[in-house]
Amino acid sequence: MSTRLTIVVGVTGGIAAYKAVGVIRALVLEGHSVHVVATDAALRFVGKPTLEAISRNPVATDLYEGVAEVRHVAIGQSADLIVIAPATANTIAKLAAGLADDLLGNTVLASTAPLVIAPAMHTEMWRNPATVANIATLRERGVTIVGPAVGQLTGTDSGPGRMVEPQAIVEAALSTVGRRVADTQSPDASSGDASSVRRDFEGCRILITAGGTREPLDPVRFLGNRSSGRQGVAIANAALARGATVTLLAAHLDVEPPAGVDVLEVGTARQLESAVKDASASADIVIMAAAVADYRPLEVREEKIKKSKTGERLILELEQNPDILAGLTASKRAGQVIVGFAAETEADPSALIEVGREKLERKGCDYLVINHVGWSEGFAAERNEVVMLQSGGDIVMEAFGSKLSVANRILDVIASR
Ligand code: CTP
Repeated sequence: MSTRLTIVVGVTGGIAAYKAVGVIRALVLEGHSVHVVATDAALRFVGKPTLEAISRNPVATDLYEGVAEVRHVAIGQSADLIVIAPATANTIAKLAAGLADDLLGNTVLASTAPLVIAPAMHTEMWRNPATVANIATLRERGVTIVGPAVGQLTGTDSGPGRMVEPQAIVEAALSTVGRRVADTQSPDASSGDASSVRRDFEGCRILITAGGTREPLDPVRFLGNRSSGRQGVAIANAALARGATVTLLAAHLDVEPPAGVDVLEVGTARQLESAVKDASASADIVIMAAAVADYRPLEVREEKIKKSKTGERLILELEQNPDILAGLTASKRAGQVIVGFAAETEADPSALIEVGREKLERKGCDYLVINHVGWSEGFAAERNEVVMLQSGGDIVMEAFGSKLSVANRILDVIASR
């Protein structure tokens, strides 16, 4: 981005505050003017001198300093963008209520700039109905929520609640500003697909899974698959352009998801299952494009597995992962639409469809998108060829083209329901 922006970075009091330093540094290195507003609690985790040195500006904390210049209004009005990282459960609650009991709350209220927040808290706090409702309120008001990621938390526990990595926050935040400027343009204008300019998913909440899960074997190795996440991210792009509110559960993507999508990073199949359970409750449409590991190692070694000195074989014992899609369809809400994917290696087209029909029946979803994959097909490619079946087994759509145009064709089928 070539324009120099004035960016307010709000830092609130969570352990992830130390990672805010990375956010501030990345924004400064991109050439932006960064002004940190830290809460008192934030300064218990990271020192003011650090924040001042990295941001290259004085750090504002106190509402009652600089009163003559009406500092909260001045900071808020001058901002092109406000990023709060980490955003604690407490801060999220205050933002949702519009409270202004500290400098950050005042700054946000006095500003019309886009607001981007990166939540960070323990899983229980993130899942608490109060936090869920507060996040929904902020989202409705147009606040961009980045994350949280699923992974190791402060203690020994893990789950959704980890702050997304600084670079991803910066990218999401900066593209929020870019998107405001380009809001009226369709990101798919080059695909030549007229359907992409329609806002036919306005008011619709779509949950998309993308990428490939990874099952750890030891601290340095995992069992994974070759999914790049391109098709799932293309669906996220298309859905966003067509007006949907999109949540993307991202399992190791090779491509950047679009800004404006709520991205939650996941690692293993069981983490994905937990995130799907959480996020599907409020979704009108669920699109399961992720390649999920069917098996995980029975044992995850605490230390790196060592090579046998005598040349013996290594036998890994695996146990089955839950079938997330089947579980989802079993508990689906009336009116909810669930789309599964199947990447198959059957070379014969009619055999491919038969495998797809059997899978559709087994998974119980409304649609199944089948594509042929092989050593040199499907994964990481820019184009895709798919056949879409509907419940009962009839073919409702066949498409070949860029992953974005295929994404739009899939959405066309769903929209026609
Ligand atoms: N899927 C899932 N949970 C799993 C495996 C797959 O939710 N444990 C979902 C995928 O996201 C996809 C669909 O189910 O939408 C089909 O995935 P696929 O791997 O093709 O199906 P499997 O059930 O693994 O069937 P098989 O191994 O027999 O091909």
